Amino acid sequence: MLDQHKKKETIIKKIENLRREIEEHNYAYHVLDAPSISDAEYDKKFQALKELEKQHPELITPDSPTQRVGAKPLKEFTQVNHEIPMGSLDNAFSEEEMLAFDRRVRQLLDTTDEMEYVCEPKMDGVAVSIRYENGLLVRAATRGDGETGEDITQNIRTIKMVPLRLRGSSIPNIVEVRGEVYLPKKGFAELNARSEARCEKIFINPRNAAAGSLRQLDSAITQSRPLAIYFYGIGSKPSPEIPTTQTELLSTFKSWGLPVCPLTKKVKGLAACLAYYQSMNEKRQQLPYEIDGIVCKVNSQDYQTQLGAVSKRPRWAIAYKFPAEEVETTIESIEFQVGRTGALTPVARLQPVFVHGVTISNATLHNMDEIHRKKIHIGDRVMVRRAGDVIPEVVSVVKSAAKTQKILLPTHCPICHSKVEHIEGEAVARCSGGLFCPAQRKEAIKHFASRRAMNIEGLGDKIIDQLVDTKLVDNVADLYSLSLEQLADLDRMGEKSAHNILDALQTSKKTTLARFLFALGIREVGEATAKQLANHFGDLAHVMAATEDALQAIPDIGPVVAKHIMAFFAEKHNPKVIEKLIAAGIHWPKVEKKLSALQGKTFVLTGTLKTMGREEAKEKLERLGAKVAGSVSSKTSYVVAGEEAGSKLLKAQTLNVSILNEEEFLDILRKNG
Ligand code: IVH
Repeated sequence: MLDQHKKKETIIKKIENLRREIEEHNYAYHVLDAPSISDAEYDKKFQALKELEKQHPELITPDSPTQRVGAKPLKEFTQVNHEIPMGSLDNAFSEEEMLAFDRRVRQLLDTTDEMEYVCEPKMDGVAVSIRYENGLLVRAATRGDGETGEDITQNIRTIKMVPLRLRGSSIPNIVEVRGEVYLPKKGFAELNARSEARCEKIFINPRNAAAGSLRQLDSAITQSRPLAIYFYGIGSKPSPEIPTTQTELLSTFKSWGLPVCPLTKKVKGLAACLAYYQSMNEKRQQLPYEIDGIVCKVNSQDYQTQLGAVSKRPRWAIAYKFPAEEVETTIESIEFQVGRTGALTPVARLQPVFVHGVTISNATLHNMDEIHRKKIHIGDRVMVRRAGDVIPEVVSVVKSAAKTQKILLPTHCPICHSKVEHIEGEAVARCSGGLFCPAQRKEAIKHFASRRAMNIEGLGDKIIDQLVDTKLVDNVADLYSLSLEQLADLDRMGEKSAHNILDALQTSKKTTLARFLFALGIREVGEATAKQLANHFGDLAHVMAATEDALQAIPDIGPVVAKHIMAFFAEKHNPKVIEKLIAAGIHWPKVEKKLSALQGKTFVLTGTLKTMGREEAKEKLERLGAKVAGSVSSKTSYVVAGEEAGSKLLKAQTLNVSILNEEEFLDILRKNG
């Protein structure tokens, strides 16, 4: 008995030692960038640990380096509410904008001294927030809309650069750390080569590939993607106290075993930030990962607190973005695509060119006015620009074709042959076919099924095209009466995929009112407006019955959007489809009306606003529970400064009252509407 006990003790020791050695190596490799043992030695230790754990499964702990893949695939991602919302950064595209940023920082801090900044590369990936409790990784979430993200713990655990347990003795009980998950260029190229060989989906850029990899329900798939991460910030108020500067925070991260970007640099003054930007722009191509700019942060956390944030965008940091890359190519032909609302968009088919790691063969020309303004013709040599996820666009003509041929707007829809309507003064021309037009129908269904709408996983564009072409689906409600046989009979679809789609359709029935409203595809009703409609009216019947005045009470909704909403519900066909959808089982939880965050806040309006009159602004604020005062005092929560703001603005500055420009003000209205 005693002997057996001893034996077990030895095994426990052995396992603990192996784990420690593996962790040490991970730390040396990922954080210090100084590998301590060879890959072969590492593998040997890893296999030895695996073997021991196989023989003694009772000794497996969740933080063991062998436990990175989840036991089984998830059914769906659960939602996570961020304790501290995940904000975003203001962007700058020019030195002037950087100058304005630096000026504002120093003005608000009331100092003429040069500011100490930390410059970091802006990683082009996906923001995540990872929570450690007593040093153990307990949860990881995506940013989502900033307030609520998705629980991707299983997938984050597969990333070797993410420690499952923090190192060191001075780790807080609870801490949430934020960073960017990215796919290195090499990993991206390999992934796409592999996908191409298997006729699978090709990702357009490393960021998309990283996002797609994090959205896998099966963490074994995520593990097969060589994802990486750098940490750059904190998302909770940890105790004991956090360090007092960004640089100290980053070194603390390192001591905890969290990798940070080695190119980070502390500098003094704006000129040094600009120099850092230049040097990163030059280095960019040689870096093993993609960056789309730099981030400048005020180093002192005291200053950061004083500067605060507006609409979840810190005033102490800015992203200085690199200009989009441009290349030259030839326009081979021009076609017209029909969108969800019937809008005809001219698209240039290009001689394929390689931009930023991707081959592009189409670029948007936006509308006819653009074509005329830029004097574009078939056969022209043109500059094409591609930036991030934005659709590539034709920027300008470099050399006109020898024989130019005028590009004409088709008089009839290229898909359904209905008349094309071009409203005088409006830039877009539209197919008048409405839902009779298969192109519009397809786009409406694609929108309905998309991730941020009903999120019907697996119901991709190609399948929707087939469903409409074969007349199995005429409107979105028909999706819910599809049978297994009908789906399995489609091209390139097996029984298993058909099953998955039926499951996904079933899952999609549980939704939210906001998602449902967004999914309907009402013109000009995006996600934010849909959310506001849901929060404001509380249920579908009230939205459908809302009068123009009632709709316009919502900050984002002006007369045009209100008309679109009313027109949508007035169209006979639409309430019928909605009825069918509800009958098919689509449901959502009752909307809890949130008390506006502006309740009890005092605003002072000064200067001229471009988008609304003083009275209208006052009315909107009051409707959200805020008070509007005539003069600034230390009790004022915000001063909204329009153009030519005068003494009230000065007073706000002296009293250290938060100042909002028009854009920030509109954002606040939107977020609270
Ligand atoms: S700090 C309040 N630092 O850029 C947000 N962000 O638009 C503070 N990003 O969502 C973010 N590299 O996904 C920060 N070194 C860096 C970054 C970085 C990339 C991303 C991040 C964020 C977005 C901001």
